[in-house]
Amino acid sequence: MEVDILIKNASQLATCAGSERPRRGKEMSYDILIEDGWVAIKGDRIVGIGKESIPGEIETGPDTLIIDATGKTVVPGFVDSHTHLVHGGSRERELAMKLEGVSYLEILNRGGGILSTVRDTRAASEEQLLEKARKSLDIMLLHGTTTVEAKSGYGLNLDDEIKCLRVAKELNDTHPVDIVSTFMGAHAIPEEYRDDRGGYIDYLIEEVMPRVIRLKLAEFCDVFCEKGVFSVEESRKILARAREMGYGLKVHADEIEPVGGAELAGEVGAVSAEHLLAASDRGLEMMKANRVIAVLLPGTSFNLYTGKYARARDMINMGLPLAVATDYNPGSCPTENIQLIMSLACLKMKMTPEEVITAATINGAHAVGRAKETGSIEVGKKADVVVLDVPNIQYMPYHFGINHVDKVIKKGKLVVDNQKLLKFN
Ligand code: NIG
Ligand code: FE
Repeated sequence: MEVDILIKNASQLATCAGSERPRRGKEMSYDILIEDGWVAIKGDRIVGIGKESIPGEIETGPDTLIIDATGKTVVPGFVDSHTHLVHGGSRERELAMKLEGVSYLEILNRGGGILSTVRDTRAASEEQLLEKARKSLDIMLLHGTTTVEAKSGYGLNLDDEIKCLRVAKELNDTHPVDIVSTFMGAHAIPEEYRDDRGGYIDYLIEEVMPRVIRLKLAEFCDVFCEKGVFSVEESRKILARAREMGYGLKVHADEIEPVGGAELAGEVGAVSAEHLLAASDRGLEMMKANRVIAVLLPGTSFNLYTGKYARARDMINMGLPLAVATDYNPGSCPTENIQLIMSLACLKMKMTPEEVITAATINGAHAVGRAKETGSIEVGKKADVVVLDVPNIQYMPYHFGINHVDKVIKKGKLVVDNQKLLKFN
């Protein structure tokens, strides 16, 4: 078979293979690497992988792109399984408040935080949101991210939530990066419902959520279950109805206070619980019992400035599968760079580079329901492959804060070369 792309001589090839279920415990670090590896691509699919010599049936011709990855490391395209991609404005003015010691929840209570981004997002046109999100998506792709989960939650009414979800859909259709949309109308209580929390929740359940799922604008539903935001009872009500409507479930759980979000994620059988900085042992056990993936976001811990990180080692030791993601958003984590997040996962949560690669690829794919298609380098999967200019996978988190991507192949097309975006339209 004549192939379209052949990547050969990779000093390391991280396959991260595994589509059946997320890797957990020791599986997060074992058996993910091939030394001196090669990958063959035809059309949008991976058609061969191996070590050292390339068998005769993998043929090259004049049109085959041959990539000599000598001294480089090849990994699956990163899956950023938790972002708030589409929003208006930015919140750099909160930095000084934070340095003075004003807490995240206090800023939110004063009408800042998420609510100030809601004002900016409502004021922005669909085109403006599209251009801003497209720039972020370009940055993500340049850093090796080929699949992104994008949550709504800065519109907080029917029209503005739909506006943001349509932007995500348009980007999914026109940009090489694949986008998985999550509805997160339960991100904050909007100002107009300040004195009528129950009214907002009923509005979400009765008007917004049915419309969003009917329009096929989101696959998952997420709730910010947090002290002063949505209580466990309120979150349970929203998630229960979401399940009936056909959404997969996600929970922003125990990000700041231990309110029982992890327990709730376990109880409702969510696909994932995210953040988990303050999760209890019982909550983690309930997640494990119900196969909930822990999506950890160390960039948010770093930027929230409280010194508190999720207990990744305990979670790995007890056999919970972990994903690692950016949480890209204008407040608690304004960065698109998943490589920086992977360094923080190592340095701040004591995850090994092998565990981190697994968490940012195949386990992230499981967390967004795409593990059959992407997240690992396996024959038959989509050819989402990144060539890193590093001699081994330890080098990437070690040499932190810079972009190590040399090339990105998305669905069999070279879309980044020598750190530059190629024209893809
Ligand atoms: O995941 N926690 C809730 N949502 C985001 C922050 C959103 C914001 O501050 O704008 C998060 O941290
Ligand atoms: Fe988030």
